[in-house]
Amino acid sequence: MRSALRCFITCCALSSLALAQTKPATPAVTLAATPPMGWNSWNWFAGKVTDKDIRQAADLMVSSGMRDAGYMYVNIDDTWEGQRDANGVLHSNGKFPDMKALAAYVHSRGLKLGIYSSPGPKTCAGYEGSYGHEQQDADLYASWGVDFLKYDLCSFSRNIGKAAPGDEQKQNEMMRAAYVKMHEALLKTGRPIVYSLCQYGDDAVWQWGAQVGGNMWRTTGDINPNFDRISLIGRKQAGLSKYSGPGHWNDPDMLEVGNGKLSLDENRSHMGMWAMLAAPLLAGNNLSMLTPETNAILTNREIIAIDQDPLGREATRIFAEEPVEIWARPLANGDVALAVFNFGGDVTFLRGIRMHLREAGAANGWKARDVWARKDLGRINDKHKFTLPGHGSLVLRLSR
Ligand code: GAL
Repeated sequence: MRSALRCFITCCALSSLALAQTKPATPAVTLAATPPMGWNSWNWFAGKVTDKDIRQAADLMVSSGMRDAGYMYVNIDDTWEGQRDANGVLHSNGKFPDMKALAAYVHSRGLKLGIYSSPGPKTCAGYEGSYGHEQQDADLYASWGVDFLKYDLCSFSRNIGKAAPGDEQKQNEMMRAAYVKMHEALLKTGRPIVYSLCQYGDDAVWQWGAQVGGNMWRTTGDINPNFDRISLIGRKQAGLSKYSGPGHWNDPDMLEVGNGKLSLDENRSHMGMWAMLAAPLLAGNNLSMLTPETNAILTNREIIAIDQDPLGREATRIFAEEPVEIWARPLANGDVALAVFNFGGDVTFLRGIRMHLREAGAANGWKARDVWARKDLGRINDKHKFTLPGHGSLVLRLSR
């Protein structure tokens, strides 16, 4: 009996060892292991962006300290594209005389270069898209030294990927196939290129974005530098956290920090919300007009550490009662990040709000660090008293 039991234990151990040896190891995520950080030309320059602007952005990312804070990708958005030649090879337009030289310049600054295209024949701004030239374009990007591709649906669903009226399923299948096609083309180049899907959250992209090879996917329509729009986008991310993680991120669109007339509180709430959401941090401001205030927000190391936390767990909403919401996320070292947002426009005194520490994964008596104030608050409990201005927020890092 005893030997039978011993055999059972040994056999189990041996077979699980054999299993462990035959099971292929999960490959470590190397591309976009944390949410990509960088800068993108669209929010400020839109269709006017030139080679000079990209070089200047790269220089300023270095001199402002943004690169050293983690901003790595310098991304050219739409309107760089020229015409295809007789062999179908795409050329950049007059605003970008030499892409290879531009990539080399960006790389020489210790940064990476991003580019933009569409699975349709035309991009959103009406420039040449990649339809029918996917591999040729992917090879071209790789030969230039491109490190990131934003692939924007645009004209695809209006013509090429248009199914019979009402056949939504077919239409969605065609869209997914178009994204797979470019993913495979990028893989074939052998160059690690971050793949950013942009189709505005259609067909619940978060459910399949990773399967078609996306390292990130836009979950919404376009952002603009208006706090109502920014907060609406942020709040709409509730429920999406389970879909994102190392290598594949929900993307609530690029940052507007420093653009428009956003106030200090609004800029901080925007940045703090994106960090809680483990969102890609792609600044979209004019870096030649970077103020010390905007720079301090964009390069706040403690906020960035939340965004870039290696556990990669996006925050969930644990409390919502107009105009206040509380979001929380667990961090790799056992800490918890908790953020309280006052989405209302009025100055509101929030003395009555319970902190919801237990729901956040913490507890009464945990230590709190106010991330924007860079101040240790000591041990707090659910009745912690604080006030928030309209559109303001409190971001705490809690530890045992
Ligand atoms: C939009 C996209 C923007 C920008 C623009 C360029 O569809 O959402 O982020 O890329 O196209 O034309």
